[in-house]
Amino acid sequence: MTIAVTAVSGQLGRAIAQALLDMKLDQPIIGLARTPAKVTGLGIDVRPGDYDQPDDFKASLAGVDTLLLVSGLAAPDVRIQQHRNAIDAARAAGVRKIVYTSIQGLEAGTPFSPVVQSNRQTEADVRNSGLIWAIGRNGIYIEPDVEYIDTYRARGKVANSAGSGKCGYTTRAELARAYAALLTTDGHDGQTVNLNGTPMTQAELVAYLNRAFGTRLTYREMTPAAYVADRTAELGDFYGPIIAGIYEGIRLGANDTPGDVAAITGRPHQSWDAYFGALGAELNPLR
Ligand SMILES: NC(=O)c1ccc[n+]([C@@H]2O[C@H](COP(=O)([O-])OP(=O)(O)OC[C@H]3O[C@@H](n4cnc5c(N)ncnc54)[C@H](OP(=O)(O)O)[C@@H]3O)[C@@H](O)[C@H]2O)c1
Repeated sequence: MTIAVTAVSGQLGRAIAQALLDMKLDQPIIGLARTPAKVTGLGIDVRPGDYDQPDDFKASLAGVDTLLLVSGLAAPDVRIQQHRNAIDAARAAGVRKIVYTSIQGLEAGTPFSPVVQSNRQTEADVRNSGLIWAIGRNGIYIEPDVEYIDTYRARGKVANSAGSGKCGYTTRAELARAYAALLTTDGHDGQTVNLNGTPMTQAELVAYLNRAFGTRLTYREMTPAAYVADRTAELGDFYGPIIAGIYEGIRLGANDTPGDVAAITGRPHQSWDAYFGALGAELNPLR
């Protein structure tokens, strides 16, 4: 009853593999990676797992019962076929159950929507695969905002187009716990679940950042068009509109969902008080 996790060279795949290892299951855990040599220190068998190399991918799934498919990062149309390659390989290799990491967001109306649509297409492909399935729709990662603190500090503000929209952020550690549960239990088979913490506004996020980092950041709302231009200037024509589109979705309420983590793991998603409290304590142990 081997469980395989794709993209273990990436942060989410690795965290999920580690969460499974932490459960000390009787089942073997293996990793798949486009670049197996990148994966060090996990202590598991890591096999070739490039979504663009279906034959190798299928061979790597020999003996695998349950597969966790981490969503790829390619352009939306390319990504759909990559995921189909992985799903087809799983079926051909005799995999019994597949769990897919999808995303939350609006399927139409923002520059992020083509990415959301590509994930919705893969969701449909997973549901139609004939395999037992479960789908998680990930909230937005909180970590990039924390990693961006020096830039925020230099600017004195967080500026984006989310306005007063609430966003159910999450952390990779919480996602990993939830996916480990979806992989090892059957209570959510055949379901699509939202994986995120308590939704908050950008003003609330800024208050948490200020408390953890001792900053005095303010929040400034931008129009969606101005934020697309801002992100495109910094991140280029592909990622700029995508990132700006995520915030437009938040503005429109796409990420304001209570989330299903407690129902899946038996424990609520980590609270933002706890997350930022721990971060602040780590940064300022004497405070
Ligand atoms: N919720 C959010 O806020 C958010 C933000 C960013 C991304 N995401 C999504 O979450 C997913 C995982 O995030 P992450 O934190 O793990 O990102 P990450 O650390 O950048 O890792 C991305 C992983 O995808 C792998 N990958 C890319 N193309 C592949 C292919 N053709 N075949 C097999 N593997 C491939 C990479 O392999 P290599 O090591 O070989 O490059 C890497 O392991 C992303 O793929 C993206 O869909 C979500």
